[in-house]
Amino acid sequence: MIENHIRILAEAYDAGAEEEYQRLAESGRKLLEFERVCDAVESRIKADDVIVDIGSGPGRYAEYFLDKGYRLGCVDLSARSLKLFSDRISDRHNEKLIFNKVSCATQLHWIDDDTADALLLMGPMYHLTTSEKRLKVLRQCQRILKPDGHLFVMYMSPHPVFSTEPWLQNNMLQHPNGIVTYTSFKERIVPQFRCTAVQASEEAAPYFESTQRVEIFDSETNNANDSAPQYLMIYKNSKRFNQTS
Ligand SMILES: C[S@@+](CC[C@H](N)C(=O)[O-])C[C@H]1O[C@@H](n2cnc3c(N)ncnc32)[C@H](O)[C@@H]1O
Repeated sequence: MIENHIRILAEAYDAGAEEEYQRLAESGRKLLEFERVCDAVESRIKADDVIVDIGSGPGRYAEYFLDKGYRLGCVDLSARSLKLFSDRISDRHNEKLIFNKVSCATQLHWIDDDTADALLLMGPMYHLTTSEKRLKVLRQCQRILKPDGHLFVMYMSPHPVFSTEPWLQNNMLQHPNGIVTYTSFKERIVPQFRCTAVQASEEAAPYFESTQRVEIFDSETNNANDSAPQYLMIYKNSKRFNQTS
């Protein structure tokens, strides 16, 4: 059975698929986000590597990496986003696109062990509100990633919402793993899980070693009107370490 909040997210992102596609090209700042993520991934992969993009949305990143010659699989809750992507790339990348499938990030058992050299998780983690579900995703990611692979996770920062809303500061103390705020997207109320990089690293520690945090926006450009400043955590798989210890 599909859980209610997962169904709402799928409906919201179905309704906002075109908007999501435009998002990364709507301003210089968003182009910077796109470039920073692409640079972070490309500096850690080599020709012929396999990338799996979980929460790929309408596939702006996926298309970029396919155009660069990598093999790639896409997963998203939003069937409409995946269809926009497959229509756009049409037959250009048949051999390189290994799957393009509607699935929840918590249900990745259908992907083989050691499939990916790089895993992108840029969406699901900041919409999953319980640590139990986020850990389930991280566990699956570790299994799907090759032993020396990298996981790229986008998180939402508690700042600046945190710094302008006193009630959130108390909430943060009571919930040391992070906080959940809500926003309206396409007339649906969707949750946004927010945590600090320290909290993110601690949660991922059973499976991944944190190697770097990449700021998506510079602190000078963050302002109180921007409710969604994000940062990218780059994790290295600890599988080899776990297996030998
Ligand atoms: C803000 S969009 C980001 C899309 C793309 N990764 C990017 O960075 O431009 C978030 C995406 O994550 C997807 N998503 C959210 N929760 C998910 C989950 N539990 N499983 C799979 N996809 C999910 C949404 O459907 C949406 O397409």
